[in-house]
Amino acid sequence: MTTTRPEFIDRLRDIPLYPAASTYEFGGELVKLASNETPWSPHPAVLEAIRAALPTLNRYPDPSNSVLRRRISERYGFPLGGVATGNGSCEILLAAAEAMLEPGAEIVYAWPSFSMYPHLAAMTGARAVTVPLDLHARHDLEAMAREVTVATRIVLLCSPNNPTATAMAVDEIDAFVSSLPGHVLVILDEAYVEFQTLQDPDVSLALLERHRNLVILRTFSKVYGLCGLRVGYALGPEDFRLAVDRVRQPFSVNALAQAAAAEAILHQDEVASRVERTVAERLWMGEELRARGLATSASEANFAWVELGQIDEEPLVDALARQGVIVRAGAALGDPGHLRVTYGTRSENERFLSALDGALGAKSGS
Ligand SMILES: Cc1ncc(COP(=O)(O)O)c(C=O)c1O
Repeated sequence: MTTTRPEFIDRLRDIPLYPAASTYEFGGELVKLASNETPWSPHPAVLEAIRAALPTLNRYPDPSNSVLRRRISERYGFPLGGVATGNGSCEILLAAAEAMLEPGAEIVYAWPSFSMYPHLAAMTGARAVTVPLDLHARHDLEAMAREVTVATRIVLLCSPNNPTATAMAVDEIDAFVSSLPGHVLVILDEAYVEFQTLQDPDVSLALLERHRNLVILRTFSKVYGLCGLRVGYALGPEDFRLAVDRVRQPFSVNALAQAAAAEAILHQDEVASRVERTVAERLWMGEELRARGLATSASEANFAWVELGQIDEEPLVDALARQGVIVRAGAALGDPGHLRVTYGTRSENERFLSALDGALGAKSGS
């Protein structure tokens, strides 16, 4: 047998592995609050659209995602040519990196932010320039602007930001993009935008008329509850969509995903109702956490970013998991001393709080 081994490129070592949430051994029903999913199944009409597409699975899906892209275009009154779709918005991020980054190029983003962003530099050999969030866990746009150089190709903005849940006002984003040179592409990642109440979620689209170097990224994974199917989309200049289409594989959004997302976007009443329920849980959980002496950042998303102060993060996450409640540790997200807790249904949130009380009570009693 040969002693030589296949060789992998060096920079592969820099690519972080996605941290799986631990589920431990637990006999009962798990409360999954670690991945910023919505607790509700897809709308019945969406399930029906998926069923209707099943008999056609012997055929490749439509490579241009025409029905889905047309519905997105109609929903926003945005030119079809500028609507890109992907296997989750993650695929669009990776495609943007492949199309724009290379050794010598730079990408700027805030940190902590979405765990996928470090992949973009690591896989292309570009340099990642990370800018710490400010004291309120918000993007520090002035500091970010200072990091932009002639080598910068992409700036990522995440609003509401994962994991800190804070959002930026559209005016701030507008001023920031205006201050940058035109060679820099700004990708505004709005995976959670529907949940924010600072402004109408669609006001950011007006920015696309003013800035030729801006792309807005959204997803069907969060408020539409379709993360299991993987569909994301971007609105921006047509040359961005063409670049994404060139680098990604042709059939990346599968037939069931296309059918489901094209139906889901028609049910904006369902979106509004989910947002309303989430915001009610957000307010209630905020009060409950404060009553326990735990501060959170100003959440505009479907999750809370909880400051643990003197409480040790790892034993707490373990204690919650042993009671069947799965949350994400801040250490796994770039900022130890925090918990990221997705808002579930009221009964799931109550289970989280009682597990938290159990864990903290056991700690203070010990
Ligand atoms: C900020 C942010 N952007 C994008 C995504 C990716 O979503 P998708 O499922 O569309 O790939 C996530 C998922 O958690 C996210 O938190």
